[in-house]
Amino acid sequence: MRRRDFLQGLSFAGLAPVLGRSFAQDRPALPVPPLVDLRPGAPLALTARVGATEFFPGKPSPTAGYNGSLLGPTLRVRSGDEVALHVRNELPEPTTVHWHGLLIPAAVDGGPHNEIAPGAAWQAVLPVRQPASTCWYHPHPHGRTGLQVYGGLAGLLIVTDREEQALGLPSRYGVDDLPVILQDRVFDRDQRLIYPRGHMALMHGVHGGTMLVNGAREPRADVPAGLVRLRLLNGANARVYDLAFEDGRSFHWLATDGGLLREAVPLQRLQLAPAQRAEILVDFSDARAALLLNRTTNAVQPLLHFAPAGERRPQPVPVKLASWQSPSRAPVAQRRRLTLTTGMEGMGGMQGMHGMPMPHGFDGHPFDMARIDQRVKLGDVEIWEVSALPGMMMDQPHPFHMHGVHFEVLRRDGRAPGPLDAGRRDTVLVDAPVELLVHFTQPAPRVPFMYHCHILEHEDAGMMGQFTVT
Ligand code: C2O
Ligand code: CU
Ligand code: CU
Repeated sequence: MRRRDFLQGLSFAGLAPVLGRSFAQDRPALPVPPLVDLRPGAPLALTARVGATEFFPGKPSPTAGYNGSLLGPTLRVRSGDEVALHVRNELPEPTTVHWHGLLIPAAVDGGPHNEIAPGAAWQAVLPVRQPASTCWYHPHPHGRTGLQVYGGLAGLLIVTDREEQALGLPSRYGVDDLPVILQDRVFDRDQRLIYPRGHMALMHGVHGGTMLVNGAREPRADVPAGLVRLRLLNGANARVYDLAFEDGRSFHWLATDGGLLREAVPLQRLQLAPAQRAEILVDFSDARAALLLNRTTNAVQPLLHFAPAGERRPQPVPVKLASWQSPSRAPVAQRRRLTLTTGMEGMGGMQGMHGMPMPHGFDGHPFDMARIDQRVKLGDVEIWEVSALPGMMMDQPHPFHMHGVHFEVLRRDGRAPGPLDAGRRDTVLVDAPVELLVHFTQPAPRVPFMYHCHILEHEDAGMMGQFTVT
């Protein structure tokens, strides 16, 4: 079965209750990162630092966070505002802060060129001019992104605008508008966090058997018995989530990486690749407990329990969400072809020609900070054809991400894409060749933008390129 068909919202009523265990009431409450409303003229101090987190009671693990020991505050900005951040690096190594999903000039994008030395600070002024959307921020130092994100450095960044506010969608943060940061981690026998290295990690990216939501294991969200909006972020280093509710209930898909869809789409399951975001609306007006889970090929993993309470309030779901125009295809300035290469294809598997593993890259070239791979003209619309060489040892889809743009999926596997490819995006899963319609609206004359695989171990090992926009 082709992956895309497999994901078209199949019903699976009759799924056995997960492990017959864990009443929601026994679970820890879902941690909700503090919300900070960014205002023009009031810079926010954001400090990356190390700390300790007890994922298991009494078993502290070394972690890192922004203004805390793990993750970071949720930043909310209004489209049209210009906001400032004062980032301090108190980590023992260089870092950067990348605003993943913001359409801003490359000079303040926080990619590998915006490095902040240990003990140093970086001032970023972000002109926010894009539709309401759920974005995020995370480190992006070359070669160390995987480790730093894994250690806990990540936070949500919410863009709001008038159009979205006028829809009356649930927007009480932490009440009926919940941040849901999905991550998976590896713990040793002593229940301490570890970051695996080696060949498996390099080939497939780091996958962990312990699922975290906002840094907690299988927590419980107390929600009103009505419509609740979830802002889902796949913040995992490598895992692709296949999300569904245990009772098979449907939900409404509202938004992609790039903001609201034109219309809400009813679904029963949703795939989320690393770095992708989705907003969904879930109806809890039946007041029944529910469980969000991840489906793998042969198991289900419980992620987040919901305990609805209070007065039952059935509410209608808005159908029409947003009106936006796709960039015109008429004058496509360029077509570019990019192939993700793992360095493990051909050559009988894992070894390159000289018996050495070859690095990850694009078209056989690993990332080079000093090399500009593509040059684009500001304002142009282009088609990027992205595919992956089928590997001998791995048949793994790569989440392809571009900085500083939104794109739409024009074709997948040579055909018109399915409904789940709808909307504007900055990250797409390349499990078959895709054609992307990309609109370059942000300047990158000196500091380039990045494009890369968002399996962070692939990115760190060189599966990244850079482009200027002038
Ligand atoms: Cu989320 Cu280049 O990164
Ligand atoms: Cu990004
Ligand atoms: Cu990859």
